[in-house]
Amino acid sequence: MDKTPTEPLLRPVFSAEQIAAQVRRIAGELTADYAGRELHLLVVLKGGFIFAADLVRHLDLPVTMDFIRIASYQGTHSSGTVNLALPHETDLRDKELLIVEDILDSGLSLDYLMKSLAMQQPRSLKTCVLVAKQPPRTVSSEPDYCGFSWDGGFLVGYGLDNDEQLRNLPAIYELV
Ligand code: IMP
Ligand code: MG
Repeated sequence: MDKTPTEPLLRPVFSAEQIAAQVRRIAGELTADYAGRELHLLVVLKGGFIFAADLVRHLDLPVTMDFIRIASYQGTHSSGTVNLALPHETDLRDKELLIVEDILDSGLSLDYLMKSLAMQQPRSLKTCVLVAKQPPRTVSSEPDYCGFSWDGGFLVGYGLDNDEQLRNLPAIYELV
């Protein structure tokens, strides 16, 4: 008998163990690259909250953190415009600034952030994303630090949401 599913199906993509390994690798690279300096993480909410929480606990550096919220997605589609929903509070001048993002897709969000943050004259400005979706990318920027690349469909779990749901899954899944 034909049965229409009411719940989205979840196909496992990156396991909790694979994510933990990438988080440790990135933290090791950051610890080496920023040795002797203080790193300021600017975490992009909401999707980046679990990634950032795991990442900072593996950084062997003096670290400060702040949070920013931007929104460009409605459901599983980009709205094409980026809105700043929560201004961050720290003075960024002369900071070694690292933007921590969940996913790089079209690149619009990160491009917008890079442009507006560069105006605040940090000493350095780099990007760290957990998942970089593969082109087509609307803007050209590639992340400085990246966990996974992905050329499939919409991802959920480990902070990533589908209309605010499923952020709490400990691994990453594709909606199918
Ligand atoms: P971009 O501006 O197109 O690069 O979109 C990036 C933002 O869209 C990310 O910060 C995510 O919050 C969200 N996003 C893009 N793709 C996905 C996805 O597959 N799952 C969940 N969120 C996504
Ligand atoms: Mg998001």
